[in-house]
Amino acid sequence: MSTAHLQFPCFLGKRVHLGVTGSVAAYKSIELLRLLRQCQVAVSVTLTESALRFVGPESFRALGADMVTTSMFGPGAGEDPFVHLTPGQTASAMVIAPATANILAKLAHGLADDLLSTQALAFGGPLLLAPAMNPAMWSAPATQANWRTLLARGTVGIGPAVGDVACGDTGQGKLSPVEHILAGVLRALSPHDLAGKTVLVTLGPTRENWDAVRFLSNPSSGLMGACLAVSAWMRGAHVRVVAGPTGFDFPPGIEVTPVTSALEMLDACQALWPDSDLACCTAAVCDFRPLAPKNADPARKLKKRDMAPDDLVLRLAANPDILRTLGEQKRKDQILIGFAAETEDLMGQARFKLSEKNLDLIVANLVGVPGSGFDSGTNTVAVLDRTGRVEQWPELPKTEVAWRVWDLLRHL
Ligand code: CTP
Repeated sequence: MSTAHLQFPCFLGKRVHLGVTGSVAAYKSIELLRLLRQCQVAVSVTLTESALRFVGPESFRALGADMVTTSMFGPGAGEDPFVHLTPGQTASAMVIAPATANILAKLAHGLADDLLSTQALAFGGPLLLAPAMNPAMWSAPATQANWRTLLARGTVGIGPAVGDVACGDTGQGKLSPVEHILAGVLRALSPHDLAGKTVLVTLGPTRENWDAVRFLSNPSSGLMGACLAVSAWMRGAHVRVVAGPTGFDFPPGIEVTPVTSALEMLDACQALWPDSDLACCTAAVCDFRPLAPKNADPARKLKKRDMAPDDLVLRLAANPDILRTLGEQKRKDQILIGFAAETEDLMGQARFKLSEKNLDLIVANLVGVPGSGFDSGTNTVAVLDRTGRVEQWPELPKTEVAWRVWDLLRHL
């Protein structure tokens, strides 16, 4: 599964304390550490005594944890005599993944009988818990009561997911995907300057079928839109994504409406736009859709023998312009952001689309050049807003372009 839409390299200076407890899923916390380090987050780690049965401190050190402790006293405590207080003094968030039924019980009741539970009790910042256990243990009344107590106290719960667990049982109790835990941690580290806003994002290509098995489309990966959606959610917004066919997995807090064609995308957007504060249209919508040959049944595959082999004529009809439609319906209290993908006259086309489609901001990029546009991890863009502000940005990861776009809202 691609994590490109979660690799935000802008958390330099932030620190997370990662607690690992004794579950078969403990090995997944090593991947969580790796993903956090890719976002430049500094990570310290505490492994409980039972976690040490599944994973060792060396793996965490090798992948970039700068302090790994395993006990309150003795060599496992490291050099710091106040190691039980250090996370509270240095980390911006604490995450325990996987979190066993035992640690949930200890945290719910304020027990501090080992290093991790003591560190958690002394931690005043955002605490995130990603439980993992057998489904019977998860649904046990005691665990459920402890979980409710923790959530009511403001702890952020991530999962657990439903699926097959290590012992062969199936049910709720599986550790949430590491990508969801990462997204939750990044959200806890982010400023919530978009809190209270509802943001609509269109992304990906559309597919326009001309029979049951063939379609017209384009190579858009949807990455730019996915980065905008995730970063708006991390910054506190309620985010609704209308997605053409793409392979992204979004954190559960993001509402996703999957669509295939431009007409479906338009319908979904029109239903969501009236009660959204902002919309950002990044989708590479096909401007035309094929019209099925006369008398053809769209549910059937056209046979080659029925088509003229060297002179096939496909009739096309214009698709609606979704961004323009939202611009026509825009109220004064709404903000609309568009993209412009151009092969020439970038600034001229961007200015034209900004005013033609009644936008507040447009992000323009050249397509067909390395480091920019379709199917690239980076983008080189110019940004123009309705007040006349123009900024030209260097080649940047799409996650960073997304973050900077939301920063520009303060000028509108
Ligand atoms: N867009 C849209 N619906 C369409 C076409 C485009 O919502 N049918 C949106 C895109 O999501 C993007 C913006 O309009 O935000 C500009 O898209 P772009 O492909 O650059 O240009 P077009 O408006 O389609 O015009 P042209 O193809 O002539 O450049």
